[in-house]
Amino acid sequence: MAKEKVILAYSGGLDTSVCIKWLMESKDLDVICVAGDVGQDAANLEEVRQKALKIGAIESIVADMREEFCDDFLDKAIYANALYENKYPLLSALSRPVIVKHLVDAAHKYGAHYIAHGCTGKGNDQVRFEVGIRALDPSLEIIAPVREWDLKTRNEEMDWAAAHGVPVPTTKKSPYSIDDNLWGRAIECGYLEDPWNEPQEDIYTMTKSPLDAPDEPEYVEIGFEHGKPVSVNGEKMTLHQLILKMNEISGNNGYGRIDMIENRLVGVKSRECYEQPGAMAIILAHKALEDMCLERETLHYKLKMEHDWATTVYNGLWYSPLKNAMDAFIAYTQQPVNGTIRLRFYKGNCDVVGRKSDDSLYDYSLATYDAADSFNHTASAGFIELFGLPTKVWASKRRDK
Ligand code: ARG
Repeated sequence: MAKEKVILAYSGGLDTSVCIKWLMESKDLDVICVAGDVGQDAANLEEVRQKALKIGAIESIVADMREEFCDDFLDKAIYANALYENKYPLLSALSRPVIVKHLVDAAHKYGAHYIAHGCTGKGNDQVRFEVGIRALDPSLEIIAPVREWDLKTRNEEMDWAAAHGVPVPTTKKSPYSIDDNLWGRAIECGYLEDPWNEPQEDIYTMTKSPLDAPDEPEYVEIGFEHGKPVSVNGEKMTLHQLILKMNEISGNNGYGRIDMIENRLVGVKSRECYEQPGAMAIILAHKALEDMCLERETLHYKLKMEHDWATTVYNGLWYSPLKNAMDAFIAYTQQPVNGTIRLRFYKGNCDVVGRKSDDSLYDYSLATYDAADSFNHTASAGFIELFGLPTKVWASKRRDK
């Protein structure tokens, strides 16, 4: 009888390589590996594909997810100015749902009843994979080998690998746990687990140290259409090209490093270092344009929703009715977000120094203190009297007591 099939989210690293053999031996399944290209800096993906076959996978696929990642996921994050806990631009949280979509598609294509991932039981990614998979197809069953197997340390895992014919890494493992894609890099663990330790320069690959950044400021203009960044210095480009371009400019100027204590969904506080040079600059510019183009009440309401959007996506609820409903609101707000923002980068800083838009709600004649002033100053007295009335009533009653 043919064996049942499992789709494994494969990265080529030790954990997911051991997963292949473990799924074959402990679960008696045929393993189909899916690796995603989300713009990570990783090893050659063709080698990753071959490695899975060598270990025993019956099929091994590398899917180029980069355009889709930009056009269906990162665009929404830009519209939402997505920063978890007001700091983290969600690079890992945003890549999981695009990978999940490909895993579920593969399960359907190959008639697999199981999907497996290599996440530990302590992080957010297991939640993102599993909730996402169930949202797309609740009939699929999920296997999380790393949560199930009894291999406590990396050495035990290497011994198991060696005994079962899984290639053991020959190069010394980086002391950090790293996740990266075209939206940025996350670095955690090792020396960074002591929150008092300053991140060392060698953890960063996308950003220069501000100390080594150019001594001259660099000006960059980003053009937006309906909230989407579409040009850099007047040159039109796809979102994918634009993100790469902004990673380069911003990273070269040492902008976009984040060092934070973060609240994971599973209840643990963790110390995380990120570098998201392009993401941070694009969100800064997008926010500045919204300040100019969104009517006040809409802007204020959206600011509150942005916090919930980021938390919802961080918590693995990309595919959820709440997230879809928030996207609909946010999409409506983006209609007038058209124009150009001028940024100035200088040694680890990025400032908005200019903005222009045909949809600007900034009205010079209302704002100016010069002769051109058209604001009705006398209307303010009555306005303040009524606006302040509740406070005045409250204060007079309190005085009575
Ligand atoms: N803490 C971040 C998140 O949950 C990043 C996780 C990155 N994963 C890693 N293996 N370093 O989104």
